[in-house]
Amino acid sequence: SAAEKGGHDYFMLKEIAEQPRAVAETLLGRIGTDGRLSLDEMRLTDDELRDIDKIIIVACGTAYHAGLIAKYAIEHWTQLPCEVELASEFRYRDPILTRSTLVIAISQSGETMDTLMAVRHAREQRASVLGICNVNGSTIPRECDGVLYTHAGPEIAVASTKAFLTQLVAVYLIALYLAQVRGTKWGDEVFAMIQLLGTMPQKVEQVLETVEPVRELARSLAGERCVLFLGRHVGFPVALEGALKLKELAYMHAEGFAAGELKHGPIALIEQNLPVVVIVPSRARPILHDKIVSNIQEIRARGARTIVIAEDGDDAVVPYADTLIRVPAVPTLLQPLVATVPLQVFACELATARGHDVDQPRNLAKSVTVE
Ligand code: G6P
Repeated sequence: SAAEKGGHDYFMLKEIAEQPRAVAETLLGRIGTDGRLSLDEMRLTDDELRDIDKIIIVACGTAYHAGLIAKYAIEHWTQLPCEVELASEFRYRDPILTRSTLVIAISQSGETMDTLMAVRHAREQRASVLGICNVNGSTIPRECDGVLYTHAGPEIAVASTKAFLTQLVAVYLIALYLAQVRGTKWGDEVFAMIQLLGTMPQKVEQVLETVEPVRELARSLAGERCVLFLGRHVGFPVALEGALKLKELAYMHAEGFAAGELKHGPIALIEQNLPVVVIVPSRARPILHDKIVSNIQEIRARGARTIVIAEDGDDAVVPYADTLIRVPAVPTLLQPLVATVPLQVFACELATARGHDVDQPRNLAKSVTVE
């Protein structure tokens, strides 16, 4: 009913709108007044966390994209090696695991069969397994050694939105907590990041307040056959997530690419008026930022219609953007929290303009509990 959807036409719209609160709830009680994190509820002791020498993340779908972003944060803040793998691949491999390996399983539902099987596969080899889940008491957290719950609230729409943002918050919390417990060469930065995490609900809110032009853009592209997404660093998984949303909801051909790979193939796809969404890294990392500005110029010279997501104040992109979507400036590693939101809105509106029910996309299920 309309009441269940909080006055929105679809659960997905309601869930997109709930993201600032979902992020806030997932942070709640986890940042102490002294500015340090406390995640005792995780059930893994600090001694156990100090013994870890490798992290492997397993997940499916959108949760896998949260895992890809986690790798950048974990390796930077903790200097622990981190691999990310699709649960459906991991479970049939012979991964090299020891008692010092921490496997992190990310799953909104806590019931995805492939992720559950990956958890069992890891535990059989004596690795510790930490779940990041949204549904209390679901199967995956019950089978894990530890769990950090996201507090997104119930997610009804098949395509994940608010759960994804809270999964990002959870992986940032875990990465920063590991750094806090184990020590890191980035001590000051870790402390500053914990503070900044607390401001992310407002940043996400800010994106939602300025997202109307994205809706207009989406409607104008409803007749397109294909959209490409480009990103670098954490913007690469954001590009993958933007493309996945468009496939799931609008049934369009959509691909995400690492911008550095353009010249190794994807650039051959560029033709007149092809819409290409580019996620521009923060200017705080000039090396990443300037490279992507060149990439935008390259694709535009070949006729692409450029849709550029860039932080407030980034003027370098203005001459090359056919459409410019602004997001608040935040540190590079946290940018997925703001950059993903316009892509969710884009896919949702484009699908609606094409006449599709965004809550119940064809052929998809909210949680895939079968082989
Ligand atoms: C299904 C859903 C996706 C979700 C994936 C993993 O494919 O349609 O939105 O990302 O499962 O689900 P999980 O519950 O494990 O996060």
